[in-house]
Amino acid sequence: MNLPAVVDPRLLAHLIAIRRDLHEHPELSWHERRTSERVRAELQELGIVCRAAGDQPGVIAELPGTQELPYIALRADLDALPVCEQTDLPFRSANEGVMHACGHDGHTAMLLGAAAILSRRGPLRAPVRLIFQPAEEDSGGADSMIALGALRDVAYIFGGHVDRFHEPGTIVVAAGTVNASSDEFRIVVRGRGGHAARPHEGIDAIVAASSVVVSAQSLVARGVDPGQTAVVSIGQFAAGTAPNVIADTATLAGTVRTRDAGVRAQVKEALVRLVTGICRAHGAESEVTFVSGTPPLVNHPDGVALARAAAADATGAAALQQMAAVNMGAEDFACYLDHVPGCYVRFGAQVSGRPSFPAHSARFDFDERALAIGAAFFYHAAARASDLLTTRLPLAAERTFGLSKEAD
Ligand code: NI
Repeated sequence: MNLPAVVDPRLLAHLIAIRRDLHEHPELSWHERRTSERVRAELQELGIVCRAAGDQPGVIAELPGTQELPYIALRADLDALPVCEQTDLPFRSANEGVMHACGHDGHTAMLLGAAAILSRRGPLRAPVRLIFQPAEEDSGGADSMIALGALRDVAYIFGGHVDRFHEPGTIVVAAGTVNASSDEFRIVVRGRGGHAARPHEGIDAIVAASSVVVSAQSLVARGVDPGQTAVVSIGQFAAGTAPNVIADTATLAGTVRTRDAGVRAQVKEALVRLVTGICRAHGAESEVTFVSGTPPLVNHPDGVALARAAAADATGAAALQQMAAVNMGAEDFACYLDHVPGCYVRFGAQVSGRPSFPAHSARFDFDERALAIGAAFFYHAAARASDLLTTRLPLAAERTFGLSKEAD
């Protein structure tokens, strides 16, 4: 793999050192204090101004542009997972039970790399905002940054993830939906307890809830357009206190994944209808509550065009890849794309000569050369978007754009 023109071997070595430091000191969602400190220190070293992110972890930093244009936002995630690391890496987690098992250590290093390139090469015409967000795994991290004004006056946003299906040096830029929505639900079925030998005197919550579990399998199979993709999985079922007692309550919990906002709403509505109907038929009462998670991640056509150009700038057009498989995982970058156009890409990071382990596995690792590709991609994405804004906005319009400059 050749290094991108904007990344020299010294910068890559520095990004690898940052990544290894973060990897050795992983922090869970909402606890990324040390990680945020390291990010702030690196940015200060570059002379980049950081905005306070309230009293939560996370860093927002801004590089001014030379013209009055909206911002280009670049985003990385900071958090690790409650996983006990089982790699033999010399920089494996020193924080027992917590591991960077999803490569967010790499994403943070990549964005710091882009910051270094941007500050070395001088300002773009458009200002650039760097978003280092907490709690991607726990969800809510993206929304917390948005609440802090991370998207104010932003024209385009870009983000990316390391990918074990593609070789280092490649970038996957896919149009349309690239990650699924994720919503959790909880169902409480209330029957009436009694003696197991006299079932006719009670209402068996276990039987009613079991019927819900079985019937829920038809929600997708019979209810969703076969051209669409959706998953309903029930991962928890709790009920009963003794073998000879009819359970009066059963609690189920699960997740709904879809790749389309309409299908998402449809499946959730159908689940409520199904639970209510089945429980009523059993004489039981029911309650369904959803914890709304992330929407489907849908890349915007303008963002895709810019990302394709930026990927070609970073690696050459030949390194552009197609998505290897439909991804039903969720990614809260979707929350940003609900507000502004942009694109989420994947950086090839397959480790060669060793078996590859999936993200969230205790043996997950990636090829660190991907850090150079990510840093270059983020830089070029900002540069391409800045150029597009300059050509789209005539000078008069720039003056009347009405940007509200925020205080640090
Ligand atoms: Ni991840």
